[in-house]
Amino acid sequence: MCGIVAAICNKNNANVVPILLEGLKKLEYRGYDSAGIAVIANDDFSRIRSVGRVAKLEKQCQEQNLTSQIGIAHTRWATHGIPSENNAHPHISENICVVHNGIIENYEQIRQNLQNAGYVFQSETDTECIAHLISFYRQQKNLALLDAVFATCQDLIGAFAIAVIDKNFPEEIIVARQNSPLILGCGNDNEGNFAASDASALLQKTNKMIYLENGDIASLTANNIEIFAQNINSKLLENISHLRQIKISELSPAAVELGNFRHFMQKEIFEQPDALVNTLEIISGCQNVQPQIFGVNAKNILQNISKVLILACGTSAHAGLVARYWIESIAQIPCQVEIASEYRYRHSIADENQLIVAISQSGETADTLAAIKHAKSLGQHKTLAICNVAESAIIRECELKFLTRAGPEIGVASTKAFTTQLVALFLLTLVLAAAKNKNINFPKLLNDLRHLPVAINKVLGLETQIAEWANQFANKNNALFLGRGLHYPIALEGALKLKEISYIHAEAYPAGELKHGPLALVDANMPVVVVAPNDELLDKLKANLKEVEARGGELYVFADANADVKVSKNLHLIQLPEHYGELSPILHVIPLQLLAYYAALAKGTDVDKPRNLAKSVTVE
Ligand code: M6R
Repeated sequence: MCGIVAAICNKNNANVVPILLEGLKKLEYRGYDSAGIAVIANDDFSRIRSVGRVAKLEKQCQEQNLTSQIGIAHTRWATHGIPSENNAHPHISENICVVHNGIIENYEQIRQNLQNAGYVFQSETDTECIAHLISFYRQQKNLALLDAVFATCQDLIGAFAIAVIDKNFPEEIIVARQNSPLILGCGNDNEGNFAASDASALLQKTNKMIYLENGDIASLTANNIEIFAQNINSKLLENISHLRQIKISELSPAAVELGNFRHFMQKEIFEQPDALVNTLEIISGCQNVQPQIFGVNAKNILQNISKVLILACGTSAHAGLVARYWIESIAQIPCQVEIASEYRYRHSIADENQLIVAISQSGETADTLAAIKHAKSLGQHKTLAICNVAESAIIRECELKFLTRAGPEIGVASTKAFTTQLVALFLLTLVLAAAKNKNINFPKLLNDLRHLPVAINKVLGLETQIAEWANQFANKNNALFLGRGLHYPIALEGALKLKEISYIHAEAYPAGELKHGPLALVDANMPVVVVAPNDELLDKLKANLKEVEARGGELYVFADANADVKVSKNLHLIQLPEHYGELSPILHVIPLQLLAYYAALAKGTDVDKPRNLAKSVTVE
């Protein structure tokens, strides 16, 4: 959940400090409670660490005029030890300096052994034991830096992406990965070489990327990159550089810039029409949907499945909940959705004909990844990843894949990833329905899908009205979100958005459940947000609204234009376009995203980087 960057440049050429800081800024979404940088200058480390954002670190670097041709840097999301200067990375052990993203599960044992050997720890982190262990192998076992890192990696259990420098050897950076992402950037014109947790941090210098695999260790000098891995037979390191291709990143640097928007979340909400157009490009001009959009073997696999199990976390799990309604009602295949962190530890009934669908924006969510591995360990090998990051671990773990083309999502609150996931899941529903010979009106549904970007633009036009509502929310401590059927998951998503960025406590309920308990919470201080599409449950929903009104509750209703919901003293209404049928959840989530965004704005919270959270949850 942290971000790491490493850079080495030609001596007469450059200063890596601005490169490292720029990289950290791009990685701040991964963690932002503290940051640090270390470079080698005059045969010694110069290290600056501080609690807070990269901007603060940058100022300190400028004040101290930090420069060097080699360095490593880190932005942290605390796991072991509070956010403090001592716990911030890089960590130093004598000549060795390390940054780390991940969690070392056996760190207590390693720490104990190292303390027994006389090593003194300055922090509470698991990372410091990596620095001391490398130091131990360098000094006590006289190993070269590459071999010392390799030996250390053999001792570590858990997830790590590390970058290591040795102050006596300022011509090389060693990086290694196991279960945490790590990408190499090959500099242009011998300018140098780079590594980072994510390609967005490297685009400032290059679009030539090498995606390291688990178990890879690489040596970066200013002019060369060599990649090694353990040979299965000899157990020794072998050079496998020829097996790792350079890929040209299609990500444009502008895609990770804010442009004219105030926050990334706002930008990403407004990018949704384009994100959907891009995601739908795969079926452009088609009158039906071919299974092959999910992979070459999709036809065979999808024809023979008996049920679907969706595994995901957070917003991605909400997309799964919407899909459950679609898959059961349109394709008529049993579908279950399970929170990945629960499934991975539960004794479930496996079925080899069950399609396992993993949904993830980042493709790196530790629980989702572990849940897929768990499903496979139970003999369920029909796996499909719906994911926004092409080279991610989750994509690689699954046999079938569908890449949502939302573009980079930087704001911690997921928005455009959600709507593109829904589009992908609707396409999956259509393919499953066709595989099961269900009678569906493909041309109409595809037409509806293709019209969605225009319909979303209309909903985005409600921004000003929604911002006014949000101002009324800012002084509330709690909120209830209600929906029914297909739109209950949208209520869940609205509540999650509001709580994570505005810190207003919000709960979502299926509206019919209100009278079984939550109605007791309703009074004039409890705003009740209602998702009210004009579907077959509308009349029942209206009855639920009466229950709230009768108890003095204040209703904020998002209704379809033709839903005939009446404004009253306690019922505020914003009308969406006319009912959009099965795809209506994709429209109804947009106002809830805007409501959360403007409530957070009114409260003055850090919209893109809410407290205690990080974008990619790569730890358990
Ligand atoms: O990258 P993923 O989609 O796997 O992430 C899952 C959740 O961590 C994520 O959706 C989280 O709930 C968001 N912050 C919600 O806005």
